[in-house]
Amino acid sequence: MVQTNAQERFELWNKSDIAEIGGRVEQIPVTAPFQETLRVFKRDGIVVLNDAVSLDVVTGIVDEFNSMMAMTDMEHHFRDKLDSKSGKSILGVLTKRRSEILARSPHLVGQLLTQPRLLELINSHLTTYATSVLIHQVLSVEINPGEVAQPLHRDNGLWPIPGRRIPLGVATMTPLENFVAETGATQAILGSHLWPDAEYIDPKDVEGRLSGGQGWKRYQTPNTDPEAVSVVEAPLGSIVVFDGDLLHGGGANTTENVVRKSIIGGYCLGWLRGEVNQQLMWPPEVARNFSPELQKLIGYSIEGGLLGGIQLGEDPISLLQTS
Ligand SMILES: [Fe+2]
Repeated sequence: MVQTNAQERFELWNKSDIAEIGGRVEQIPVTAPFQETLRVFKRDGIVVLNDAVSLDVVTGIVDEFNSMMAMTDMEHHFRDKLDSKSGKSILGVLTKRRSEILARSPHLVGQLLTQPRLLELINSHLTTYATSVLIHQVLSVEINPGEVAQPLHRDNGLWPIPGRRIPLGVATMTPLENFVAETGATQAILGSHLWPDAEYIDPKDVEGRLSGGQGWKRYQTPNTDPEAVSVVEAPLGSIVVFDGDLLHGGGANTTENVVRKSIIGGYCLGWLRGEVNQQLMWPPEVARNFSPELQKLIGYSIEGGLLGGIQLGEDPISLLQTS
């Protein structure tokens, strides 16, 4: 973390209590007063925490990231199910995703996932209706030149509860290169996490989700007015945090040869099933290398005194204790 003695002075772009559709995504120093950061996050559904991670950490992760991605194909396994020209594919075809960077670099990636201000924000947002928070995915994403924009969607569509919902999940994005519009910085509609008409996935339309069919259409918004969309620019060292009900989507990478690289973190209520099965990804022999805080976050923990135990009510953290 960047060291600063006093809480940093900063200027908000929007000083009101109402999100401005099409406005600028606020960037706030990680050292700013917490209540102000929380207020902006709840208002806009998104905030960029500047200087949240040191550049040494970012550089170390980039090295691991590059070696892993060099061995990874594009999303070709979905290609036959996608129409890349329609721009309707949610996964894209010139995008690489991997889920194991945490095991390759537990110390560095662990620092991102447990950044204190980030966890303060996430806990404050998600623990009204749960006693704990889980990490439900850790993804390395590489968006290559020529990739089309992702449709706007809500990540919380994973959990198909209709209508107005309680906060269910929070996503984070850590840039491994500056997020700028040309390389496909995420686009988002500020304040859309509070819209009352949140659509959700038809849980039975699994095929449609992959093909841009009905499943994803229900997941998308009819409001694609370009003026409503803000570009989520963010510098190296920052962490972007957004509510899972915020309408957003990756932008198009219009460059000739610049690859957009990032680490995505997903957090959810302690009683929800996650997108990537963390306990199977990180069995005890792997999870033993993680920090105790991270071990809890990936599910070696109990929610509400009972959920997720091994013997009834027994905390699975005991699986990590060597005898
Ligand atoms: Fe998303």
